[in-house]
Amino acid sequence: MEKELSFKYTQLEHWNELPTSDHVLVEAAQNVMQGAYAPYSKFRVGASLLLEDGTIVTGSNQENIAYPSGLCAERVALFFAGANHPEKTVDTLCIVAKGDLVDVETLLSPCGGCRQVMVETEKRQNQPFRVILVSQNNVTIIAESAASLLPLAFGI
Ligand code: THU
Repeated sequence: MEKELSFKYTQLEHWNELPTSDHVLVEAAQNVMQGAYAPYSKFRVGASLLLEDGTIVTGSNQENIAYPSGLCAERVALFFAGANHPEKTVDTLCIVAKGDLVDVETLLSPCGGCRQVMVETEKRQNQPFRVILVSQNNVTIIAESAASLLPLAFGI
């Protein structure tokens, strides 16, 4: 039997076309991105999370000379939220990035490891969350769930 999975998302030319209530999330991700520790890749990533009660949690990528010991911005933010706000539902995850590692036009998209953590967050809270991806040229993608970004995720 042949099966097919499809993926629906919204694309905007600039993040400022997002609802005004989302602008604070983009700005929080842009701000925390400044504090990224990325001496090896020189690629800075910022992630912000809106929790159910309006709390905003942020994280940036943190690299290490032993490369695999570093961690992506999304997981820094998600694990901080899991550790400090375990009872609060994640409503939205927003990601921004800057650096020469990828072309300015390349759509920003979280790595596979972060997607796996994102889908488990949805499973844990029994509720999907929105994912806003702001590329370096400001083109913005909105996905309605993390699961849509990782079909057939492990163990989910
Ligand atoms: N990085 C993230 O923070 N998030 C992603 O989704 C992909 C990559 C970081 C890891 C590393 O510090 C740098 O970007 C280059 O890969």
